[in-house]
Amino acid sequence: MQEKFYLTTAIDYVNGAPHIGHAYEKILADVISRHKRQIVDNVYFLTGTDEHGIKIQKTAAAKHISPKEFCDENFSKFEQAWKELEIEYNQIIRTTDEQHKKIVKQIFKKLLENGDIYKHKYTGLYCSGCESFLNPKDLTQDGLCPDHLKKPDEITEENYFFRLSKYKYKLIDYIKTHPNFIVPAFRANEIIKQLEDIEDISVSRTKSSVQWAIDVPDDDEQTIYVWIDALSNYITAIGYDINEPSEKFKKLWPANVQIIGKDIIKFHSIYWTTILMSLGLPLPETIFSHGWITIDESKMSKSIGNVIAPKDVIDNFNLEHPDAFRYYMASAATLGKDGNYSDNEFKEKVNADLANNIGNLLNRTLNMLVKYFEGEIKSEFISDKNSSIAILAEDTKKQIIEKFNKYEIAEAANSIVDFADRVNKYVTENAPWQLAKEEKYTQCGQVIYNTLESMRYIALFIYPYCPNIAKDILKQLNQEEDFKYSKLQWGAIKEGKITEKEKIKPVFLRLDSEFALDKKRYIN
Ligand code: ME8
Ligand code: MG
Repeated sequence: MQEKFYLTTAIDYVNGAPHIGHAYEKILADVISRHKRQIVDNVYFLTGTDEHGIKIQKTAAAKHISPKEFCDENFSKFEQAWKELEIEYNQIIRTTDEQHKKIVKQIFKKLLENGDIYKHKYTGLYCSGCESFLNPKDLTQDGLCPDHLKKPDEITEENYFFRLSKYKYKLIDYIKTHPNFIVPAFRANEIIKQLEDIEDISVSRTKSSVQWAIDVPDDDEQTIYVWIDALSNYITAIGYDINEPSEKFKKLWPANVQIIGKDIIKFHSIYWTTILMSLGLPLPETIFSHGWITIDESKMSKSIGNVIAPKDVIDNFNLEHPDAFRYYMASAATLGKDGNYSDNEFKEKVNADLANNIGNLLNRTLNMLVKYFEGEIKSEFISDKNSSIAILAEDTKKQIIEKFNKYEIAEAANSIVDFADRVNKYVTENAPWQLAKEEKYTQCGQVIYNTLESMRYIALFIYPYCPNIAKDILKQLNQEEDFKYSKLQWGAIKEGKITEKEKIKPVFLRLDSEFALDKKRYIN
């Protein structure tokens, strides 16, 4: 068994409130982390907020508050949103934390001492949206930043530069020899292409251009560029120290997976990895880059006015818990591709999968158990692990683990639904109500048993996506609340009374088609 699993997410800029794009990433990370906790003892899940940089400095100034006050305000919105979505991280780091700032300075100094950081005068095209200099050949035909569609400013500065070029071939070779390093694999080729003509990058700004940042050690004129600061969070959070890394750091690093959006893959797979090389630290096992979430197939943007907060979905549909939203988001896109949110698709998907497919199956079966057997499992109902449905359940378990190992989170959810479909079909084909009518009670009880035992598997399978529904299923099956995969052995439901009429409740209520559109709100 694997000893530890360390996963990280991107740290969000706190220059606004979290939207469902941010939520998508944290949900993916939480689903992966909950799944790993079912199998691995020591799982550590880090998330955080990125609090320095010119945008935050400017927005705070416009609001006449200090940057730190502005960060505090927004930080609590992120914290609150993750709580509402039941994101169970172990730690949320803020780049304004003193410990983080101290270690970032150490890192900068170390790279300087290594000869990997040097001073250099430079004229370049700076995009304030990207907070970085752009390569002229990456601009649009009209000379605009391709991401922000804004004309970059020509800026001359003397900055510190990181000697990334020194590690270029080593990194290309590393990517080519480590097929799991960049997920999805189609991104690896893009990165190798970008690496072929990569240049050293500037890693500081003059204080006159960016003040809200960590100071360059022993230099009054310069601040550390936001990306060096931000990327280092993955190691400062867990106790990295140039002189004496903590036990925790030694245990956790290298990360098993670093989850980020496709827009920042270059920063992670090129900048971050070469910084690690310069520090003499091992590289993460996998950088997993997810796609972007659109709303009704269009880009989420403040100017369009279609930015949705996760809480908006929960409120608009009057959801009791975040399970349905978590499930929908985690299933929204196949590996690394973009996904879409729409109210209608959301409603249809969760009604079909959670209410009809899974919820009804449990409900009908428990009701039959009450109707025919007063809620009691008899010993002659219990099947062994060689029954066809048990084999199917075990096979599904294998598929799910394999898919999670490849970060195919939506695909793993499909395996659960497929299994529930098969069990539904099994019930229809074996018609326990018919068997009861024919007084074939043992056979009838066997079908019910197989179905309920399958539901127990489904509870553990769906737990990472829908922790509340999973708990509810186990409760109604009268099973202890334990989601470890070591519990997934066929035959755990024993003979005896499981339920009675009053205890049977739907685990997920269909969402109303008349959801309150008038209540609908967006972030403004
Ligand atoms: O990039 N769909 O912060 P950020 C899916 N601070 N993912 C989305 C998204 C969308 N519509 N919008 C944003 C930053 N994201 C830096 C990261 S890491 C050392 C520093 C994702 O707030 C985005 O891809 O702009 C990124 O992974 C994360 O949310 C934070 O984005
Ligand atoms: Mg961004």
